[in-house]
Amino acid sequence: MEQKEIIEILKNDNAEELYQKAHKTRVETIGHNVYLRALIECSNVCSRNCLYCGINRENKELKHFSLSKDEIIKTAKLAKELGFKTIVLQSGENQVYDLKTMCGIIEEIKSLNLALTLSLGEKTFEEYKQYKKSGADRYLLRIETTDEILFQKMHPDGNFKNRVECLYNLKELNYETGTGILVGLPNQTIESLAKDILFFRELDADMIGLGPFIPHNKTLLKNEKAGDLELTLKVMALVRILMPNINIPATTAMETLSKNGRKKALISGANVVMPNVTPILNRENYSIYPDKKGVNALNKEELEKLYKEIEEIGDKVSGGFGASKNFKKINK
Ligand code: 5AD
Repeated sequence: MEQKEIIEILKNDNAEELYQKAHKTRVETIGHNVYLRALIECSNVCSRNCLYCGINRENKELKHFSLSKDEIIKTAKLAKELGFKTIVLQSGENQVYDLKTMCGIIEEIKSLNLALTLSLGEKTFEEYKQYKKSGADRYLLRIETTDEILFQKMHPDGNFKNRVECLYNLKELNYETGTGILVGLPNQTIESLAKDILFFRELDADMIGLGPFIPHNKTLLKNEKAGDLELTLKVMALVRILMPNINIPATTAMETLSKNGRKKALISGANVVMPNVTPILNRENYSIYPDKKGVNALNKEELEKLYKEIEEIGDKVSGGFGASKNFKKINK
């Protein structure tokens, strides 16, 4: 599929048909398994000033926290007890955990027989290499947008080429590699969304996470319009159709924008949910956007409700590690 065709589909009104096709594709390739990942937001300290993000360094009202190694391991153990098979360790971009400390954390989490995804931002090739050597399996680094001008505007101290290079480094180091975008950034075009999708394919990403942009009142974009859920779901459905074997989460931002966002995503191509296991005291300070509506895994009823929701749509929570089929295909 070329850019022109992708643009046409994104502009077309018939979203329902697209969602159904994406769901059919997911069921045919992955089946009815849904994979759960336990998200630990380990530190909200960030040295970047991304315009859209509530934990950017210019937000002086933010109460900073960084979980200690012991707290992270304790949380990972708790996630394991709750039945999770994958831990996602996410933080702002910072130097809170030096290389040795992070490698120690990775080794300990891996000794619990869990899959581990890191989402710590842009690091050097050597750092990614050491994390991998310590046992990390997967890495998430959204490109956010492939429109270079928009990228530079949204990330005043970012470098588009470096971010792309990071993603190719992760691929080269044999990480199961995830990327993704924000849908609905100010001045983002349908044309650029189509290019984003082509970029995912070019990279041969193993996971794609995307969500609508949600304005945060402590950022420069506070008065901008939020992204559109339907357009987000259309992009996601199209990604599923074009990349049938990858993992796609129903993201928290989708649920934040609409009460049934997660459910809609799961019947439009998504096959992953990432409930939050961050200690409650720290959670409100990890506010990348307001009113984050993720599943709180520490609340028994909420986790049970998620299981029920998944069963209601004819799926089941998988007991496996849930590696991307796209990744397994090359690494048999
Ligand atoms: N709205 C929606 N998503 C956001 N993210 C950051 N800020 C926002 C926002 N205001 C997303 C980015 C990042 C991920 C962890 O959260 O895409 O990669």
